Amino acid sequence: MRYELRPLTEADIEAGAWELSTLVGWNQQPCDWRRVIGDSPDGCFKLVDAGRVIGTVTTTRYGRQVAWIGMMLVHPDYRRRGLATELMMAAIEYLRGCGVATIRLDATPLGRPLYEKIGFRADGTWSRWKAEAVAELPSGDRFPKLHTWRPELLQIDRQAFGVDRSGMLKRLAEDGIAIEGITGYAMLRPGRIASQMGPVVATDPQVAGRLVREILQGQPGPFIWDVNGANPAAIELAQSLGFRPFRELERMTLGEPVPPERQEWVYAFADPAIG
Ligand SMILES: CC(C)(COP(=O)(O)OP(=O)(O)OC[C@H]1O[C@@H](n2cnc3c(N)ncnc32)[C@H](O)[C@@H]1OP(=O)(O)O)[C@@H](O)C(=O)NCCC(=O)NCCS
Repeated sequence: MRYELRPLTEADIEAGAWELSTLVGWNQQPCDWRRVIGDSPDGCFKLVDAGRVIGTVTTTRYGRQVAWIGMMLVHPDYRRRGLATELMMAAIEYLRGCGVATIRLDATPLGRPLYEKIGFRADGTWSRWKAEAVAELPSGDRFPKLHTWRPELLQIDRQAFGVDRSGMLKRLAEDGIAIEGITGYAMLRPGRIASQMGPVVATDPQVAGRLVREILQGQPGPFIWDVNGANPAAIELAQSLGFRPFRELERMTLGEPVPPERQEWVYAFADPAIG
């Protein structure tokens, strides 16, 4: 039987898409769905069976160099019928049509065999860490709230991430809180299960440590942190603050090699759907 492949719109969030991510225990809120769909209204797709959303996929483009595929979900009653493959092919075709050179994603253990079959190759493993609460900081000098993105800060992020993602950073900051230092920044936003910290980018481990401690202060736990597995200082910091890993994901790539990244500046990823 064929199901209908259609654009995924904001109206689908409350009409089935968020239910799919909730069903598999993901942390995403409706605002996380709105952010990705709003960023790429032509590049997000759904499969529909008799009016019901049974599968989703989203794409997020960072110029023509890199794009991210996310929110790859198929309802449990419809799995192993090739539906995820169909959604993936629609997303890849869309991105190729936009001239995107490199497609990346963060794969769960369930998603990995599907992506390997399509030709994605693994770049490295990272883990999602969790803490119920963090110790209070002594009062002292605090980092200012981030209201306007300084060009220097965007330049640091561009070097860390490999490409310009300033549009997405601004969207993320609107959905949570953000603080800035001279050489780094940190963000935190509400999640369905836990407050989600990230992205956190800093050129220096000491600045990163202060940013992370401070962004978590006075905020409701538990906290989730997608720790960059390629940055030993991030792992050390997470451990020292009482975070523990509970889920592993694989970063995967299709197409051209990724642009050079300052991986050692990345402490927390933004979200598996967007990198
Ligand atoms: C991952 C997921 C999207 C796959 O959806 P699906 O519609 O069942 O996938 P497909 O039918 O297109 O599978 C394509 C191929 O992927 C592989 N595959 C898919 N699910 C698999 C599984 N559970 N175990 C092993 N291989 C699997 C197989 O090679 C499969 O081909 P085959 O059925 O001919 O052997 C679905 O299981 C899901 O929604 N999981 C929960 C959310 C999730 O983890 N999403 C991935 C985020 S990165």
